[in-house]
Amino acid sequence: MIVTLDGPAGAGKSTAAKALARRLGWRYLDTGAMYRAIAWAALDQRVSLEDESAVADLARALEIRFDAERVLVDGHDVSHAIRTQEVTVATRRVADAPAVRDVMVEQQRRIADGCDIVTEGRDQGTVVFPQAELKVFLTASAEERARRRFRERTACGENVSLETILTSQQARDDADAARPVGAMRAADDAVVVETDGMSHDDVVDALVALVVSRGGETCQ
Ligand code: DC
Repeated sequence: MIVTLDGPAGAGKSTAAKALARRLGWRYLDTGAMYRAIAWAALDQRVSLEDESAVADLARALEIRFDAERVLVDGHDVSHAIRTQEVTVATRRVADAPAVRDVMVEQQRRIADGCDIVTEGRDQGTVVFPQAELKVFLTASAEERARRRFRERTACGENVSLETILTSQQARDDADAARPVGAMRAADDAVVVETDGMSHDDVVDALVALVVSRGGETCQ
């Protein structure tokens, strides 16, 4: 069974998708990490982000693996390196390239082949797995998402304002939604889960209930 979880940045998708996969005893696929890994490798190998076919060739050649919580690119642990601001900015350009997306879609389908999986991203229910048994679009209001990010980042000692976070979040939402291929949007048959006011456990419980209602079985 395939469960897709799409939605905007800061909606808590990764945490929810990971927890859901753990509760179900299924695989978890973080497709954002795949786009980030390509951007990291392009910067590392000085491949021009303007050169779409070179970036697509790079994407085809790289071995991206997930090992527990780690992301490995050709055997190198890039789990932290792919989360820097520089990589985040570069990732947006990589994700805009249709030729790169074609490579990613093919790899994501190969990874999911024959297993029970929770897959998370922007285009999982719309483009990659239109046949998924359950499609969820996880979202929250812009203010709520920005407040969550603000709490996370200031807790790490960063000096950032709520307004700055809201502005960059809006730019990211707009870029994700405007992408000509693989744009972020809820599939017509997706269940929209709006998480304002819900605790982490509430969100995971709601997702588990949806999976069970579609015939999925939990392992705990
Ligand atoms: O979810 P994230 O922030 O790690 O995603 C990183 C970037 O990749 C972000 O700009 C959205 C993009 N992305 C995408 O276009 N399609 C996906 N399936 C997953 C992420």
